[in-house]
Amino acid sequence: MKDLVIFSLVSNKRLAAKLAKKYDAILGDISIDRFKDGEILVKTLTDCKNKDVIIIESTAIKAHERLFELLLLVDSIKRTGSRSIKLYIPYFGYSRQERVSWINEPISCEVVAKILDTAEVDEILTFDLHHPDIEKFFKTKFTSIPTTHLFADYYRKYLKKENIDIKDVVVVSPDHGANTRADALVASLPGTRKVILNKFRTAPNYAEHLAFEDDVQGKVCIIIDDIIDTGGTIVSAAKLLLEQGAKCVLVGASHAVLSNKNFEKVLDTCIKDLVFTNTIEKRLPRRIHVLDISDDIK
Ligand code: R5P
Repeated sequence: MKDLVIFSLVSNKRLAAKLAKKYDAILGDISIDRFKDGEILVKTLTDCKNKDVIIIESTAIKAHERLFELLLLVDSIKRTGSRSIKLYIPYFGYSRQERVSWINEPISCEVVAKILDTAEVDEILTFDLHHPDIEKFFKTKFTSIPTTHLFADYYRKYLKKENIDIKDVVVVSPDHGANTRADALVASLPGTRKVILNKFRTAPNYAEHLAFEDDVQGKVCIIIDDIIDTGGTIVSAAKLLLEQGAKCVLVGASHAVLSNKNFEKVLDTCIKDLVFTNTIEKRLPRRIHVLDISDDIK
């Protein structure tokens, strides 16, 4: 498909290269220059005249920089005369600020949506968006692609390999916001049931969970979440599940933000298996598994 050009900027270079190969598309070339005052100049080095364009870029880690790079690249591509532009933002930064949870807070996610609307692309897609309500902030056609099927496949194989009876498995939502994600996994793994934990934050990035009534004695617990950032949420949830008698804790999360450098050490204390998708490209130790989202990018 030589009418298709696939770009990435910083976050998803491997994914873009893989897809360009798969679709026999042109892998777009770009340059990013930095001025002494910190301003940037982003441009396409590939002529996109009459081409359909896919840009893949997660707005992860320094989300605001990634966002601005994207806006400049879209403008540059349009100026070459592209036919259409689809924007894949596999991990959507600022998505956790989708509501006012304290007086005078901004709804940052809505601000980002308004900014992205100004780019006037044909479609914006993301994976496993933090909250479905975010969609309504956009005027541009916007879709969140679920990742449940990837985790369900992974756990079906894992449970078979480890000889675990599905009846001994519970799917855990680490907070009420992740409830529907856990429901979707339970529906894909018939025989499991759901446990919801009560999380409260003592300060930004610090999470604690309250003891719960549900019986997890001897159960294999799969915590399913969208994001692991500091790891505070899953570690606090895993410790509580083990304290309340769980046999072991497995964790699946779509987005490996992983801003905590000591994350691995903490992980060893309470989590038996961890799996992410590749919405954010990271160098991860071999014992952390990664599921590929590329089949859902079309
Ligand atoms: C929160 O609502 C999200 O779904 C994640 O649970 C949270 O962002 C994870 O962050 P951390 O790893 O820092 O606890």
